Amino acid sequence: MASTTVSSTFELLFISSLLLFSQFFVSEAQGLPPVVKGLSWTFFQSSCPKLESIVRKRLERVFKDDVGQAAGLLRLHFHDCFVQGCDGSVLLDGSAGGPSEKTAIPNLTLRKESFKIIDDLRERVHKECGRIVSCSDITALAARDAVFLTGGPNYVVPLGRRDGQNFATEQATLDNLVAPTANTTTLLARLAAKDFDPTDVVALSGAHTIGISHCTSFTERLYPNQDSTMDKTFANNLKTSCPTANSNNTVNMDILSPNVFDNKYYVDLINRKGLFTSDQDLFTDRRTKNIVTSFGANQTLFFNKFVNAMIKMGQLNVLTGGQGEIRAKCSVRNKDKLLAAVVEGLEKTLAAAL
Ligand code: HEM
Repeated sequence: MASTTVSSTFELLFISSLLLFSQFFVSEAQGLPPVVKGLSWTFFQSSCPKLESIVRKRLERVFKDDVGQAAGLLRLHFHDCFVQGCDGSVLLDGSAGGPSEKTAIPNLTLRKESFKIIDDLRERVHKECGRIVSCSDITALAARDAVFLTGGPNYVVPLGRRDGQNFATEQATLDNLVAPTANTTTLLARLAAKDFDPTDVVALSGAHTIGISHCTSFTERLYPNQDSTMDKTFANNLKTSCPTANSNNTVNMDILSPNVFDNKYYVDLINRKGLFTSDQDLFTDRRTKNIVTSFGANQTLFFNKFVNAMIKMGQLNVLTGGQGEIRAKCSVRNKDKLLAAVVEGLEKTLAAAL
């Protein structure tokens, strides 16, 4: 009897130490990526303590009216970070110096409302705290809230980015944003250049669990010949939505739950119902297939890897400290001081009148 008690106590101790041990490794595995020099988890803790609640509360209202705006804001942050770093350059209008990043082909399908939402958030934040928070920081926070408020993970965003004073050329924009026609070999190579590994690539692609696409982004898989890797019924339905190769229509990217940030995108890929070649080929290529399968089976795993990759993405080539500037209006660089001053003056007059 006594020996049974001793041995079961021992077993219990053994099991709990195993659990402790495995928990240690789980939390190690969940450890967040390092913060780059100049950014910090607590950057505005004393100078603008209400920053995150201003952004979140406003976006709760925006998404209540139109949940699709969440996808637009998430994609905007991605397009900002991949081209010239997360410096808000995608927000800038063109100038006499030439056309902007904004007018490069991949950016033409960014939602017009997304730019307005970011500047509205910027105005609310600056009214509360003064001009101390950059448009690029606001875009990073908006993307996080887009994920969380549609059902995805909540995560911390390191802050302190400064806004760039120049935008990229249209060619540089094209060079940095991969086309949806790309296969996994291209995708892995292009993202490895930005220090993303295959797990990051598959996790980031999971952002396609929300939002829409224009037909022209994938109709090369339908016309003239149907991509043999695509499910037949899915292809027929897409043909109904996109009757010609250059139809202006749009379709949902995740047919199972288009407005919810979950792991159903991977279930779509497993069912051969992924929209782009860049999506579906992740399930064909042996280097990424198992990652797709594991994310499809385990949403928590996907969320952990997604958060990790987003925090990495949000720190790509950031400007910090004395670099760049804090824009007074997200679409105009301060260099054009007269214009910025006029804009600010107008905003103050308007705010006082309201
Ligand atoms: C790296 C490979 C990627 C490719 C090739 C790609 C391509 C595209 C394309 C072609 C569209 C549809 C545009 C349209 O026709 O309207 C789209 C939409 C979208 N993408 Fe990606 N994307 C990639 C990665 C990402 C990443 C990393 C994110 C975010 C972390 C993201 C978030 C989104 C979202 C949320 C939408 C829906 C936008 C909306 O509804 O307005 N994508 N993507």
